[in-house]
Amino acid sequence: MATSQQHSGDYVFRVNPNLKGFTDLVFTNDAPEEVASKVDILFMAVPHGSSVEHVPKIAEMGVKIIDMSADFRLKNPADYPTWYGWQHPAPDLLSKFVYGMPELHREELKSTHFVSVPGCIASSSIYSLAPLAKAGLINGVAIVDAKIGSSGSGNKPSISTHFSERYNSVRIYSPSGHRHIGEIEQELSIVSGIKTTATMSAHSINMVRGILTTSSVFVDHDVGMAELWKVYRSMYGKEPFVRFMMDPSGLYKYPDPKLVMGSNFVDLGFAIDQHVKRVVAIGSIDNLIKGAAGNAIQSMNIMEGFEEREGLMMSPMRLV
Ligand SMILES: NC(=O)c1ccc[n+]([C@@H]2O[C@H](COP(=O)([O-])OP(=O)(O)OC[C@H]3O[C@@H](n4cnc5c(N)ncnc54)[C@H](OP(=O)(O)O)[C@@H]3O)[C@@H](O)[C@H]2O)c1
Repeated sequence: MATSQQHSGDYVFRVNPNLKGFTDLVFTNDAPEEVASKVDILFMAVPHGSSVEHVPKIAEMGVKIIDMSADFRLKNPADYPTWYGWQHPAPDLLSKFVYGMPELHREELKSTHFVSVPGCIASSSIYSLAPLAKAGLINGVAIVDAKIGSSGSGNKPSISTHFSERYNSVRIYSPSGHRHIGEIEQELSIVSGIKTTATMSAHSINMVRGILTTSSVFVDHDVGMAELWKVYRSMYGKEPFVRFMMDPSGLYKYPDPKLVMGSNFVDLGFAIDQHVKRVVAIGSIDNLIKGAAGNAIQSMNIMEGFEEREGLMMSPMRLV
């Protein structure tokens, strides 16, 4: 079943015409608690702060939960006032949720009932930086430059997503203090085993879907490309949804959101600026798929013992 307050009674394919011919499901207006009593797995896709109003009660009902919001992403309750401006009302539940990034938490996902799906910009940043963290190459602050399309801010229209304001614009909407920094630091610290810090500047750009993150870390020794290939391959070599977009020639030498659109792939690349001993880590995803629903489905597949790629092997659209 699928619910929507504003579209209750409408066919899902009327609201999402791309699904015509795929489903005759009709949106209902059931409260999450009612849905939870009828399903095996509940996917919550509501804004931050709304999810936590329902999850504590639903968690006691024995249903599995996959939550898209940030309400259960951070392990440390003290991080909620820092990054979201509110005290967490159910801090005991935080340790029960697994961060839904299969490439980093596959084993934990196999035995959990509760998944918290990562933030979209956080995903691109973590995917590209985690191998460096694991290899002990992040000794100072990881610096993330993020560019994101308008769907990253949800489907409620606003002046910042209005076409005539958005078009031809590169708007730096968060030069510092972006709330995804909390989860980036959390995950890089887990991977590296030491407390790791990050900073980010985020830009809205003239796209609907897609994220590109270009991150920098400064290293204290000469790092070569062969070493970096080893670092990245050892972490992701067998991952079904991670691709290295590192073509020595042609137009697409590095990741570009255009190449992952409509797919569950994360494209990664890296480079070295020997002049200042800077490693550049590049990541690109479709924020609505690998940055949201795709990781939710992949996590569910692992949690349920399904084939991990089930329902996710869409090739990216070639937009030319
Ligand atoms: N957009 C992305 O790229 C992205 C990526 C990763 C994670 N996320 C997270 O996933 C969640 C959903 O994202 P979204 O982009 O779909 O957000 P959204 O468009 O802002 O909200 C999704 C839906 O939630 C319902 N809703 C709105 N306010 C609500 C409230 N106060 N209580 C209950 N339901 C409410 C509305 O559906 P109805 O009116 O139809 O019920 C709305 O269409 C958010 O927590 C977001 O941060 C988003």
